[in-house]
Amino acid sequence: MLLQVDDLHVQLPSARGSVAAVRGISLSLDRNQVHCLVGESGCGKTMTAMAIIGLLPRGAQRRATRLDFDGIDLREPGEARMRTLRGRRIAMIFQDPMTALNPSFTIETQLTDVLKHHERIGHAAARDRAVYLLGRVGIRDPLARLRQYPHELSGGLRQRVMIAMALMCQPELLLADEPTTALDVTIQMEVLSLLAELGSEFHLALLLVSHDLGVVSQVADWISVMYAGEIVESGAAADVIDSPLHPYTQGLLRCVPYPGRTQRQTALYTIPGGVDAIEGHPNQCAFVDRCEFAHPGCRAAAIPLRSCGPSRVFRCNLEPEQLRRAVKDEASA
Ligand SMILES: Nc1ncnc2c1ncn2[C@@H]1O[C@H](COP(=O)(O)OP(=O)(O)OP(=O)(O)O)[C@@H](O)[C@H]1O
Ligand code: SF4
Ligand SMILES: [Mg+2]
Repeated sequence: MLLQVDDLHVQLPSARGSVAAVRGISLSLDRNQVHCLVGESGCGKTMTAMAIIGLLPRGAQRRATRLDFDGIDLREPGEARMRTLRGRRIAMIFQDPMTALNPSFTIETQLTDVLKHHERIGHAAARDRAVYLLGRVGIRDPLARLRQYPHELSGGLRQRVMIAMALMCQPELLLADEPTTALDVTIQMEVLSLLAELGSEFHLALLLVSHDLGVVSQVADWISVMYAGEIVESGAAADVIDSPLHPYTQGLLRCVPYPGRTQRQTALYTIPGGVDAIEGHPNQCAFVDRCEFAHPGCRAAAIPLRSCGPSRVFRCNLEPEQLRRAVKDEASA
């Protein structure tokens, strides 16, 4: 595996004390794979990606039993070493393209600087790669775009520039945090498909963060569903989509229109409530206040991850047959 994360925790300082933003995440990712991390706002997706690339907010504490990238232990201290990996071998597309691009510099300066910073390469060669990549991400007339500043581009173009910038140094691992949030729904799928296509062209390991299970299901090889800082279900994308186990995953799938599953002219489902901070109740199922199958046992202890088959895990004390039956009952209701 190119990336192996075991039992990752992130604590963040806050006015109320310390917030457990990530609680024991484990995931792995290899070249030519797309692993999607999915969940509602505040469930810890960005902090997981930031913990991997070593860009957590000031005062954050990270611990893991394993955090390996291509045999390199990312837990070992050394900002200088991390800087040589970041951008060159591990790249990230940030959630907000406007804050990630520098408004004072042209697109040409920003794209070529990334490459010149990491490689001994002349400006002309760096510029050639920028032109090639802007073309590959679907930007027409790349030479004209190179002369522009970020504020002169639409949200969609800025998002494409961010993808090109992340690919400048031909990274092996790309962390893409909600790379389509600034886009119209109509082109979200186009940009995600482009990202997946480039991922396979450049043999990338792609960790794709999203709140939209319906959209990522179309490009993912693997899906991990997060809730309140934990993974509640993980498995091959087709298995998770076709046969979701955890009630939260089932709820997320009922919230999005899905061909063959969603009945015409019926209102989409809304999961009641919101993601709460877990601090007050660490010894119960984090989803208990929102779960339609909750029973007294769900408040008695923290729920461990359980296996269901060789490559599937879920975090619920009901049996897989009971959970699958719930999906069938819902479909036939
Ligand atoms: N800089 C920070 N300082 C303190 N707490 C933070 C900080 N950034 C995020 N958090 C908290 O950490 C938790 C996880 O946040 P995170 O940004 O990882 O969520 P997310 O899943 O990426 O959400 P979204 O879909 O809204 O981007 C949340 O409870 C959030 O309030
Ligand atoms: S453990 Fe209980 S509350 Fe949690 S998801 Fe399963 S049934 Fe629902
Ligand atoms: Mg986020």
